[in-house]
Amino acid sequence: MTERSCLSIILAAGEGTRMKSAKPKVLHEIAGLPMVAHVMNAARGAGGTEVALVIGHGADEVRKAAGRFKPSPEIFTQEQRLGTAHAVLAAREAIEQGYDDILVMFGDTPLIEAEPLLAARAKLAEGAAVVVVGFRPADPAGYGRLIERDGKLVAIREDKDASEAERKIGFCNGGLMAIAGKHAMSLLERVGNSNAKGEYYLTDIVEIATSEGLEVVATEASAESVLGINNRSELAEAEAIWQRRRRRQMMLSGVTLIAPETVHFSHDTEIGADTLVEPNVWFGPGVRVAEGATIHAFSHLEGASVATGSQVGPFARLRPGAELQEKSKVGNFCEVKKAVIEKGAKVNHLTYIGDARVGAGANIGAGTITCNYDGYGKHFTDIGAGAFIGSNSSLVAPIILGDGAYVASGSVITENVDGDALAFGRARQKAIPGKGRELRERFAAAAAARKAEKE
Ligand code: UD1
Ligand code: CA
Repeated sequence: MTERSCLSIILAAGEGTRMKSAKPKVLHEIAGLPMVAHVMNAARGAGGTEVALVIGHGADEVRKAAGRFKPSPEIFTQEQRLGTAHAVLAAREAIEQGYDDILVMFGDTPLIEAEPLLAARAKLAEGAAVVVVGFRPADPAGYGRLIERDGKLVAIREDKDASEAERKIGFCNGGLMAIAGKHAMSLLERVGNSNAKGEYYLTDIVEIATSEGLEVVATEASAESVLGINNRSELAEAEAIWQRRRRRQMMLSGVTLIAPETVHFSHDTEIGADTLVEPNVWFGPGVRVAEGATIHAFSHLEGASVATGSQVGPFARLRPGAELQEKSKVGNFCEVKKAVIEKGAKVNHLTYIGDARVGAGANIGAGTITCNYDGYGKHFTDIGAGAFIGSNSSLVAPIILGDGAYVASGSVITENVDGDALAFGRARQKAIPGKGRELRERFAAAAAARKAEKE
């Protein structure tokens, strides 16, 4: 099958308004990735090397976003929304390149995976001219019904055009079609628009192909995989299904999730085997965790990498550019941004490390802050290997602390510290014998005098 060339056409020109959003529907995200990009990934997974995206008139935002997808699709504009067949023909130039297989998909059906697409392509390889991916929804209202005769698919009737008897059919069009490239143009060009909506229905090619004696086949996919998104409630439903699938994949690949339903992944989250993820952890985009790490409860990670044997949290926040090297630790109520925590270094409690390097084996005391921002620019803090930063210190960047530097607790460090030096950035403590008692007696006497005056 791999030798068959394949073009995927993704329709995204229909702009529903039910998302109640300034953002085009297909750019709404599932697991941090626009819906339409999920569809593109499925197409590529099914061997659809070329992807044509059909967008509506003026859909500049979609065009711009699609340009950033890698590899980016070829974009076609459907100037007027005249129906799904008309939308497919917007990509005429691509179709005419001459592909063996053509897949037609909808940009708002983000849960589709490669498997049903591959099954449809396999039918084309066996000689079918058109393959329709059907499904059995809980409620078929609104969907095109698959009309079969003698076990063969002969037509698709749109809901609005269906007779009462046809409406009772539970087997529906999921919206995915595979068309043999050599028949595509002639079938599509014969579609008319005399129907209830006055649209050029893609689904009409089933009847046209049948009338020409071409083979038409229906396959079946799960209702889940062809779920179309029309509002934010359905978006959340799709997100939940996606998360459920991914949690399962993670566990089957060796990741331990104690309470899987509380862990949220992004489309690109990577976690190695034997890593433990405790409950209530959020993985934003761009996170890589190696094998044998522990992500404790209530941690929030984004754009970060965590190496083997490291510990994160509980209640830690790793922001973009946080790089935890082997066996390092970032503990409770710590935030790390754009900083390397080298091998074995510890940032255990209530600390902010931003724009910094924490050298191997260094220990950062509770409440330490890298003061990286002066209101205009960001500055770098370089902490040497084996350094010890006493609790509640402020390291005012730009600043360099050498290997083995030792900072006294409560210091505000504004000048570089040499390796192995001890730095005090605060007044030294002074204690005056008996002075405490003397003060207490003086204040008590004054209070007694005020009270006597009032009486
Ligand atoms: C379509 C199918 C129906 C199927 C259902 C599954 C047709 C005629 N009907 O119905 O059989 O059961 O999907 O969800 O194909 N679009 C364009 N340009 C257009 C019209 C539509 O790009 O001119 C795009 C839309 O953005 C959408 C997709 O095509 O992604 C489907 O269009 P929509 O109007 O939602 O079709 P349905 O009535 O849902
Ligand atoms: Ca629809």
